[in-house]
Amino acid sequence: MEHDVCALEDISDGGKKVVSAGREKVLLLRKGDEVWAVDSKCPHMKLPLSTGKWDGETIKCRFHGACYNVSDGRRTKTAWLLANVGTDALATYPCTVKDGRILVEAAD
Ligand code: FES
Repeated sequence: MEHDVCALEDISDGGKKVVSAGREKVLLLRKGDEVWAVDSKCPHMKLPLSTGKWDGETIKCRFHGACYNVSDGRRTKTAWLLANVGTDALATYPCTVKDGRILVEAAD
């Protein structure tokens, strides 16, 4: 189901925001008029990604350095200590901007 989570203007250009979408906690990442929605927790140890570094294409977890492409959730860079941790991808959610509102599809 689609959830109206906030206004586009609630997130600065290049910014991040954690919101609730149904029963999911979702991290929104903005670049210009585009917004991506991903799981708010890193797949590695379920620590928050909201403090990570967002460069407009990937989010880098501040805890152990894993980087994830926000379009498809795949891990793009693996810090040396994560080399044998596997390839868990970051969950992504369909996200659109309509009439200045951000809409995220997530389970109720
Ligand atoms: S918790 Fe994110 S890389 Fe370890």
